[in-house]
Amino acid sequence: MKATAVAPSNIAFIKYWGVKDEILRLPKNGSISMNLSELLTTTTVEFNPDFYQDSITVNNIQEIIEGNRIIKHLDRIRKLANSDLKAKVISENNFPTSTGLSSSASGFAALTVAGAAAAGLQLSEKELSILARQGSGSACRSIPDGFVEWLDGDTSETSYAVSLYPKDYWDIVDVVAVVSTIKKEISSTEGHKLATTSPFFDRRLQLNKEKMRLVKHYIKEKNFTAFGQLIEAEALELHAIYLTSHPSLIYLLPASLRLLHLVKKWRQEGLEVYFTLNTGQDVHLICEKKNAKKVVQKLSVLDEVQNTIINYPSKGAHLIKKHLL
Ligand code: DP6
Repeated sequence: MKATAVAPSNIAFIKYWGVKDEILRLPKNGSISMNLSELLTTTTVEFNPDFYQDSITVNNIQEIIEGNRIIKHLDRIRKLANSDLKAKVISENNFPTSTGLSSSASGFAALTVAGAAAAGLQLSEKELSILARQGSGSACRSIPDGFVEWLDGDTSETSYAVSLYPKDYWDIVDVVAVVSTIKKEISSTEGHKLATTSPFFDRRLQLNKEKMRLVKHYIKEKNFTAFGQLIEAEALELHAIYLTSHPSLIYLLPASLRLLHLVKKWRQEGLEVYFTLNTGQDVHLICEKKNAKKVVQKLSVLDEVQNTIINYPSKGAHLIKKHLL
């Protein structure tokens, strides 16, 4: 009745942006990502007939139950298990929440794996990914190992993530440069609904299949230069959609922009590093492992950078024996 799971966050190289079904969280397009070794959530779930209400503690703070996304996810698990038992959930991120880094991917992946096991369900990786997707879209990619593709699918059963390669396949690194701890004004969930208000969104969708094919090809060939150029263009395209949505979504800060300029400059100087971005101001710097130290060194002298986190490719969500409660 009690289980604990650890799950990584992930960085998308081809981004999930826009939903064709808000309730089921079916994405408008396929996406590709890598699990991140140093951005982890650990979650313990206990179902117990003695509990008279659900209780949720995230990073030592008790959450309000009303309208809570975690409770909604527990309800999905209870429905599958045909159970009405109340749950206690304790969840901890190994990275400070104040950094503003999103934890919904690692959070819902860990909740899914721990919750399903605690409820006595025996789900396949595909079933876990489908379940995680309904909590947070990007969480479905934190279930399989390493380098991952989310097959968009038109139904719940066909929209799930699969591993393309295990974590040790390619020695690339994601150095997260935290530039501010302010929380974004509009969440990803709200942003997804605005995607189609951009006049460029349809064009973006048209280009997705070819981009997916290319990025998979570059990963297969381990062609870091072509891969880097493509993922950087994809990140800028995502932000072009943000900027041209109604209302407009402006996430980048002066510090983020300075970093984007610097990455291009460092490249001209011979240090091969590319950037990618999410719904927020922080910048993810992607390089080969051999260049990671150099990149961190460059970042460490900048006033704009508050913190750096070096991530290697990681395995997906899994159960562990040590419980948090
Ligand atoms: C820009 O998965 O956080 O990071 O499904 O509403 O929880 P919800 O959204 P979320 O969106 C992630 C958006 C992104 C791109 C990506 O990770 O693919």
